[in-house]
Amino acid sequence: MADSKKLRILLVAGARPNFVKIAPLMDRLRDAENAARAETLLVHTGQHYDEAMSRLFFDQLGIPRPDVNLEVGSGKHGKQTGQIMMSFEPVVEEWKPDMVLVVGDVNSTIACAMVAVKLGVKVAHVEAGLRSFDRSMPEEINRVLTDQISDWLFVSEASGVQNLMLEGISPSQVHLVGNVMIDSLKKFLSVARNSAALWQYHLVPKGQPNSPPAPFVLVTLHRPSNVDDPEKLRSLLEVLNQVGEQIAVLFPAHPRTRDRIEKSGLAGFVHTEWTYDQLAQEKGVYMCPPIGYLEFLHLMSEASFVMTDSGGIQEETTALGLPCLTLRENTERPSTLIVGTNTLVGTDPARILSEARQILAGLSKKGTFPELWDGKASDRIVNILLGTNPPPSAT
Ligand code: UD1
Repeated sequence: MADSKKLRILLVAGARPNFVKIAPLMDRLRDAENAARAETLLVHTGQHYDEAMSRLFFDQLGIPRPDVNLEVGSGKHGKQTGQIMMSFEPVVEEWKPDMVLVVGDVNSTIACAMVAVKLGVKVAHVEAGLRSFDRSMPEEINRVLTDQISDWLFVSEASGVQNLMLEGISPSQVHLVGNVMIDSLKKFLSVARNSAALWQYHLVPKGQPNSPPAPFVLVTLHRPSNVDDPEKLRSLLEVLNQVGEQIAVLFPAHPRTRDRIEKSGLAGFVHTEWTYDQLAQEKGVYMCPPIGYLEFLHLMSEASFVMTDSGGIQEETTALGLPCLTLRENTERPSTLIVGTNTLVGTDPARILSEARQILAGLSKKGTFPELWDGKASDRIVNILLGTNPPPSAT
C-alpha cells in the first residue's frame, strides 16, 4: 500500500550514461532518513538493453533492479521516442508520482518528461542547461526541449545557468548543484582500481597482474556524426593507427561503432585479439566490446590520455586530471575546456595527430575541478527536492 504522506518520486533511466547519474540519486533517496520521507519507483525504459550496456552497470553501481522495465529497445528516433512515451504513460497513470526525475539528454529523457508534464506531473531534470548549440545533435534537441518543460532544473556547471537564463527559464527553478557523474566517480574510483581490467585487456604481462601496464591511450567513438559516414570513420581509424605507431590504442567500441566498422569493410584497421607482448612491442589499435563502469574507470585512471566523442568522458577525465582530446567541433561541457583537461580537436586528422603527439611529448594540458564537482551533487538535489537543508557548499 502506498504511504500517502510520503513524496512519490519516479526516476527514469534509459541508456548507459543515465545509469551512472541515477546511481547516486537512488543511493541518497534510499538512505534511512530520506526513505522515511519519499518513496521511489525506478523505471528502466530499455533504450539500452545489452548485458554490457545495461545490466552490468546496474550491478557494478549497486542500482536496485528497476521496478518497471519498458523494454523498448533500439529503433529510429521517432519510433524509439514514441514507444517510450506509449509505454511510460500507463506507468505514470497507475503509480501517480508527485514528480518524475529524468537525467541527461537521451531519447528516454525527453520522452518521459513529455509524458509527465502532459499528465500534470512535475518534472525534475538533472544535468539541465548544457548546450552544444549544434541542433544536428539529437541530444541537443532533447536537452532544449526537456529544460523547457521541467519544473526543477539541476545544473552541473556554471555555463548551464547562463544558457537557461538566456532561454527565459525562471531563476527560481534553476539550481547549480554540481555533477552527479562525479559523485559516482568519487565513490567508486578506489574500488575500480582493484578491477581485473589491466590483465583482462592484456595491458600487463601474463601472470603479473601487479606490474605496471604498457603505456596506452583509451579511445571511444559512437556519435553518429563520427561513425555513420564510412569515409569519416575511415579517416578517424587511419589517424588512430598513426597514433598507434607511437603508443598502444585501446578502443572499447559501442555496438553502433562496431557495426559500422564491420559493415564498411574497415575491420582491417583494428586488432580484436592480442597478447601483452604484441600490444607492448608493436603497439597499434585494439578494439574490444563495451567495458563495464568499474573497468573503464580503472583504465582511465591508468591511461596516458583519452580520445573520445562522449559527453560524460570529457567530465570524468577532467575529474581525474587526465588529458582528453575530444573529437568533435563543439562541446556542451565548456567547463572541461576552461578549467579542466579537455581539448576540442575536431575531426581533422592532422590536428588530432598533432595534439596527440604534443601530449606524448609531455606537453599535456593541466586542469582543476569545476565548481561543486565535489561528490555531493546528489545530496544537494535530494535536499532541494525533499525541502531539507542544503549541505555545506564545496570548500
Ligand atoms: C544513446 C544516446 C547518446 C549516448 C549514448 C551512450 C540518444 C539520442 N542518444 O546513443 O546520447 O551518448 O546512448 O551510449 O538517446 N545498441 C545495442 N545494444 C544496446 C543499445 C544499443 O546493440 O544495449 C545498438 C543498436 O544497434 C542501436 C544502436 O546501438 O540501434 C544505437 O542505440 P541508441 O540507444 O539508439 O543510441 P546510442 O547511439 O546508443
